[in-house]
Amino acid sequence: MSNYVELFRHLDALLVKNRQFWQFMPFVERGFVWHQNLPFCQWLTALDDNQLQVLSYDIKALTTALMPWIDDAEALTQLVSKIQPLTRTDRSVPQGFDSGIPGRKWQQIIAFNEVLPPLGLPWLEWCAGKGYLGRVLAASHQQPVTSLEWQSQLCIDGEKAAKQLGLAINFIHADAFSRESDNAITTRQHAVALHACGDLHVSLLQRVAANKGAAVSISPCCYHLIRQSHYQPMSTIAKTSTLVLSKHDLRLPLQETVTAGNRVKQLRFVEVSFRLGFDLLQREVSQTETYLSVPNVQKALLNQGFEAFCVWAAARRGVQLPENIDFDKWQRQGEKRFAIIERMELVRQLFRRPLEIWLALDRVCFLEEQGYEVVLGTFCDKPITPRNLLIHAERRNIS
Ligand SMILES: C[S@@+](CC[C@H](N)C(=O)[O-])C[C@H]1O[C@@H](n2cnc3c(N)ncnc32)[C@H](O)[C@@H]1O
Repeated sequence: MSNYVELFRHLDALLVKNRQFWQFMPFVERGFVWHQNLPFCQWLTALDDNQLQVLSYDIKALTTALMPWIDDAEALTQLVSKIQPLTRTDRSVPQGFDSGIPGRKWQQIIAFNEVLPPLGLPWLEWCAGKGYLGRVLAASHQQPVTSLEWQSQLCIDGEKAAKQLGLAINFIHADAFSRESDNAITTRQHAVALHACGDLHVSLLQRVAANKGAAVSISPCCYHLIRQSHYQPMSTIAKTSTLVLSKHDLRLPLQETVTAGNRVKQLRFVEVSFRLGFDLLQREVSQTETYLSVPNVQKALLNQGFEAFCVWAAARRGVQLPENIDFDKWQRQGEKRFAIIERMELVRQLFRRPLEIWLALDRVCFLEEQGYEVVLGTFCDKPITPRNLLIHAERRNIS
């Protein structure tokens, strides 16, 4: 059994055992899902905004704070720490190559390039966008690059930039899921995908394996962008797991706490608490326990107050509001529910990275089963991109 299979088993066991803490939809709950554990709910309720903010940014502090309530908190964080930064090799890129590339994207590309071993193979860049990564690979490895991308304008822009830089990049304008794209995947090739979403990178891995491609390196993202309603495990070990992951669950790895200013935070508080208050009101009116979502709202409507919001939302969702509603009461309840949801989301944060690594390990174990030597690590620091996991696989015994 490989170390990755073992790590997967440990993580899987802890994620399954602690499902109650993360596998639910905070938004649809009326109150704490752990209401039977009153001291835990009281402790969460007592956290002030400042503590909430500190804990949501600092996983070590969050782990320590949750240890009295979640037995496996420390074990989870320790398992996650087994995924280490990959070794970077300095690779110079000619001046001017970063022109037109957003700063953080450039840093990601440089880092991605610096952790890839030079295998002397032609490159295939999957879901390439304008082929930013392809340019850097072409320049630092002196190997031809094929960049496959679905949006024609990105292909046109990418081709133009490559020509100006005098680089050997061939763009293929195609849908990555199409049969035609299969032709782009060959045996003597190093396929790469920087932030290809969900099924797009899954299908790359499956097709590279099927075509016995020599090497593949991906940084996965957007695990929830899948064509099926639920996650389809790839590896034998993940297929034995009892975890069934919905698209909502698959969004958890992407739910980073974002740094927001006070104005943005206040706007979010108003909008979300209005929605939650309206939902409670409609449950009462319609005698239901089903959450009712409301479409996007013009921010100007929020300035007109909770009552105006409810009248608008009721009209949009066909809810008949009776006379004499105590709107203040429902608004206060929405605000109370907002605070509860924030605290439940805080607890779910402890499981964010473990679930992301579980998903990455499923891909790793699949590739190992398919005859690849695989490494999983981080290719850059989190501030450059939180989606910083990289899976690198080389086919064993390439002759
Ligand atoms: C998140 S972007 C990543 C782009 C690039 N790899 C990067 O990191 O800058 C995903 C890219 O996948 C492309 N894409 C989406 N669906 C696709 C499909 N079915 N076939 C090929 N490319 C697709 C999008 O147009 C977009 O350029």
